[in-house]
Amino acid sequence: MAQHILVLHGPNLNLLGTREPGIYGRQTLADIDGRLKQVAAEHGASCTSFQSNHEGQLVDRVQAAAGDGTDFIIINAAAYTHTSVALADALSAVDIPFVEVHLSNVYKRETFRHHSFLAPKAQGVVAGLGGFGYEAALRFALSS
Ligand code: DQA
Repeated sequence: MAQHILVLHGPNLNLLGTREPGIYGRQTLADIDGRLKQVAAEHGASCTSFQSNHEGQLVDRVQAAAGDGTDFIIINAAAYTHTSVALADALSAVDIPFVEVHLSNVYKRETFRHHSFLAPKAQGVVAGLGGFGYEAALRFALSS
């Protein structure tokens, strides 16, 4: 069972709640992170969240995870999912199991959203379940 879970949010996810609510819902990032902390605590685990609009900061945070006791990563890399070799390489380098999450069902959207540089290395991918997708990934981490 994972004990120290890191949740990474990529660009524009700080705008959740007001950003295209028809696609991403009305929950704010604080709502999502608060719920994850609560579920983790109920299982005696910790859940730390980090959001950045900058690719390099996300790479730095993944690298730092190798030395801070993180044993599972949940990542919604947002647009970087579809573009970032650097983030995929960082996740491979630290070798910490991770699940990729998307609020929306990327497969029923534009074709450029169908490709992920991260997914081939992920334990699993959750897409289209809104904020609950993060909780599903967390419950998986807590049971694995
Ligand atoms: C997203 C889907 C991405 O294609 C998009 O760039 C995002 C959010 C999602 O959670 O549905 O910013 O990752």
